[in-house]
Amino acid sequence: MIRRILETPDPSLREVAEALSEFEPWLEGLIADMYSTMHASSGLGLAAPQLGIPLRIVVIQLPEDQAEGHGGVPYTLINPDIIEGGPREKMTEGCLSLPGYRAMVERCNSVVVTYRQLDGKCAALTAQGLLAQAVQHEVDHLNGVLFIDHLDSMLELQQIPPEPLDWSYEDEAEAG
Ligand code: CO
Repeated sequence: MIRRILETPDPSLREVAEALSEFEPWLEGLIADMYSTMHASSGLGLAAPQLGIPLRIVVIQLPEDQAEGHGGVPYTLINPDIIEGGPREKMTEGCLSLPGYRAMVERCNSVVVTYRQLDGKCAALTAQGLLAQAVQHEVDHLNGVLFIDHLDSMLELQQIPPEPLDWSYEDEAEAG
Protein backbone atom coordinates (compact mmCIF):
# COMPACT_ATOMS: atom_id res chain seq x y z
CA MET A 1 0.00 0.00 0.00
CA ILE A 2 1.27 3.44 -0.93
CA ARG A 3 1.01 5.83 2.00
CA ARG A 4 1.06 9.60 2.13
CA ILE A 5 4.47 11.18 2.71
CA LEU A 6 4.44 14.06 5.18
CA GLU A 7 6.00 17.29 3.95
CA THR A 8 7.62 20.19 5.75
CA PRO A 9 6.58 21.95 7.89
CA ASP A 10 4.60 19.02 9.34
CA PRO A 11 5.61 18.91 13.04
CA SER A 12 5.72 15.07 13.02
CA LEU A 13 8.90 15.34 10.93
CA ARG A 14 10.56 17.10 13.86
CA GLU A 15 9.97 14.42 16.49
CA VAL A 16 12.60 12.00 17.75
CA ALA A 17 11.42 8.51 16.81
CA GLU A 18 11.27 5.60 19.25
CA ALA A 19 13.49 2.55 19.04
CA LEU A 20 11.76 -0.78 18.46
CA SER A 21 12.15 -3.24 21.29
CA GLU A 22 10.01 -6.05 19.91
CA PHE A 23 9.98 -7.42 16.43
CA GLU A 24 6.31 -8.00 15.67
CA PRO A 25 4.82 -9.55 12.52
CA TRP A 26 3.01 -6.29 11.62
CA LEU A 27 6.41 -4.73 10.97
CA GLU A 28 6.62 -6.66 7.73
CA GLY A 29 3.52 -4.94 6.35
CA LEU A 30 4.75 -1.51 7.37
CA ILE A 31 8.14 -2.09 5.75
CA ALA A 32 6.51 -3.36 2.55
CA ASP A 33 4.46 -0.13 2.51
CA MET A 34 7.62 1.91 3.04
CA TYR A 35 9.23 0.33 -0.04
CA SER A 36 6.06 0.78 -2.17
CA THR A 37 5.74 4.40 -1.10
CA MET A 38 9.42 5.13 -1.73
CA HIS A 39 9.34 3.52 -5.19
CA ALA A 40 6.13 5.33 -6.14
CA SER A 41 7.91 8.64 -5.48
CA SER A 42 11.20 7.53 -7.10
CA GLY A 43 12.96 8.06 -3.77
CA LEU A 44 16.22 6.38 -2.73
CA GLY A 45 15.32 6.15 0.93
CA LEU A 46 12.47 6.63 3.36
CA ALA A 47 12.18 6.81 7.14
CA ALA A 48 9.05 5.75 9.06
CA PRO A 49 8.53 9.26 10.55
CA GLN A 50 7.97 10.54 7.00
CA LEU A 51 4.78 8.44 7.03
CA GLY A 52 3.82 9.79 10.44
CA ILE A 53 5.05 6.66 12.22
CA PRO A 54 7.47 7.66 15.00
CA LEU A 55 9.61 4.50 14.93
CA ARG A 56 13.29 4.04 14.11
CA ILE A 57 12.91 2.24 10.79
CA VAL A 58 14.65 3.17 7.53
CA VAL A 59 14.49 1.67 4.05
CA ILE A 60 17.03 2.45 1.33
CA GLN A 61 17.23 1.16 -2.24
CA LEU A 62 19.55 2.87 -4.69
CA PRO A 63 19.18 2.69 -8.48
CA GLU A 64 20.66 -0.44 -10.09
CA ASP A 65 23.20 1.54 -12.11
CA GLN A 66 24.59 3.54 -9.19
CA ALA A 67 26.35 3.12 -5.89
CA GLU A 68 29.27 0.77 -6.63
CA GLY A 69 27.58 -2.58 -6.27
CA HIS A 70 25.04 -1.43 -3.69
CA GLY A 71 22.52 -0.51 -6.42
CA GLY A 72 19.19 -2.32 -6.36
CA VAL A 73 19.85 -3.92 -2.97
CA PRO A 74 17.03 -3.20 -0.46
CA TYR A 75 18.41 -2.18 2.93
CA THR A 76 15.99 -2.30 5.86
CA LEU A 77 17.59 -0.74 8.93
CA ILE A 78 15.78 -1.01 12.27
CA ASN A 79 17.20 1.02 15.16
CA PRO A 80 20.19 2.13 13.04
CA ASP A 81 23.15 3.63 14.82
CA ILE A 82 26.02 5.26 12.92
CA ILE A 83 29.14 4.26 14.83
CA GLU A 84 31.83 5.53 12.46
CA GLY A 85 32.08 8.26 9.84
CA GLY A 86 34.76 8.97 7.23
CA PRO A 87 35.93 12.36 5.92
CA ARG A 88 33.23 14.88 5.07
CA GLU A 89 32.44 16.15 1.60
CA LYS A 90 29.65 18.12 -0.06
CA MET A 91 27.00 16.09 -1.87
CA THR A 92 23.81 17.08 -3.68
CA GLU A 93 20.77 16.10 -1.67
CA GLY A 94 16.99 16.25 -1.78
CA CYS A 95 14.13 14.86 0.29
CA LEU A 96 10.66 13.45 -0.42
CA SER A 97 9.41 15.59 2.46
CA LEU A 98 10.65 18.75 0.71
CA PRO A 99 9.77 18.11 -2.93
CA GLY A 100 11.13 20.41 -5.61
CA TYR A 101 14.32 21.44 -3.81
CA ARG A 102 17.89 20.28 -3.44
CA ALA A 103 21.10 21.58 -1.93
CA MET A 104 24.74 20.70 -1.38
CA VAL A 105 25.03 19.10 2.05
CA GLU A 106 28.20 18.10 3.86
CA ARG A 107 28.18 14.38 4.72
CA CYS A 108 30.69 11.73 5.70
CA ASN A 109 31.76 9.92 2.52
CA SER A 110 31.65 6.61 4.37
CA VAL A 111 29.89 5.29 7.47
CA VAL A 112 29.60 2.15 9.51
CA VAL A 113 26.04 1.62 10.75
CA THR A 114 24.80 -1.05 13.13
CA TYR A 115 21.12 -2.00 13.06
CA ARG A 116 18.57 -4.73 13.66
CA GLN A 117 17.23 -6.85 10.83
CA LEU A 118 13.55 -7.64 10.49
CA ASP A 119 14.16 -10.92 12.38
CA GLY A 120 15.62 -8.93 15.28
CA LYS A 121 19.21 -10.00 14.63
CA CYS A 122 22.02 -7.43 14.93
CA ALA A 123 23.89 -6.52 11.77
CA ALA A 124 26.44 -3.97 10.56
CA LEU A 125 26.86 -2.27 7.20
CA THR A 126 29.86 -0.39 5.84
CA ALA A 127 28.66 2.12 3.27
CA GLN A 128 30.41 4.51 0.90
CA GLY A 129 29.35 7.39 -1.31
CA LEU A 130 25.65 7.58 -2.16
CA LEU A 131 24.73 4.74 0.19
CA ALA A 132 26.60 6.42 3.07
CA GLN A 133 24.84 9.69 2.25
CA ALA A 134 21.43 7.98 2.20
CA VAL A 135 22.09 6.31 5.58
CA GLN A 136 22.99 9.67 7.14
CA HIS A 137 19.98 11.42 5.58
CA GLU A 138 17.53 8.76 6.76
CA VAL A 139 19.00 8.43 10.27
CA ASP A 140 18.63 12.22 10.53
CA HIS A 141 14.87 11.77 9.92
CA LEU A 142 14.70 9.49 12.97
CA ASN A 143 16.05 12.36 15.04
CA GLY A 144 13.71 14.98 13.61
CA VAL A 145 16.50 16.47 11.47
CA LEU A 146 16.02 17.52 7.84
CA PHE A 147 18.76 18.18 5.27
CA ILE A 148 17.97 21.90 5.32
CA ASP A 149 19.18 21.96 8.94
CA HIS A 150 22.71 21.36 7.64
CA LEU A 151 22.66 24.52 5.50
CA ASP A 152 24.07 27.84 6.64
CA SER A 153 21.31 29.64 4.78
CA MET A 154 18.06 28.78 3.01
CA LEU A 155 19.55 30.67 0.04
CA GLU A 156 21.60 27.52 -0.57
CA LEU A 157 18.39 25.70 -1.54
CA GLN A 158 18.02 25.28 -5.26
CA GLN A 159 14.67 24.80 -6.89
CA ILE A 160 14.64 21.75 -9.12
CA PRO A 161 13.52 22.80 -12.62
CA PRO A 162 10.04 21.57 -13.51
CA GLU A 163 9.63 18.68 -15.95
CA PRO A 164 10.33 19.70 -19.57
CA LEU A 165 7.30 21.03 -21.39
CA ASP A 166 5.42 18.62 -23.57
CA TRP A 167 6.13 20.20 -26.96
CA SER A 168 3.59 18.07 -28.79
CA TYR A 169 0.89 20.15 -27.11
CA GLU A 170 2.30 23.35 -28.56
CA ASP A 171 2.62 21.78 -32.01
CA GLU A 172 -0.99 20.80 -31.84
CA ALA A 173 -2.01 24.30 -30.77
CA GLU A 174 -0.07 25.79 -33.69
CA ALA A 175 -1.57 23.32 -36.11
CA GLY A 176 -5.03 24.09 -34.79
CO1 CO B 1 14.34 12.83 3.46
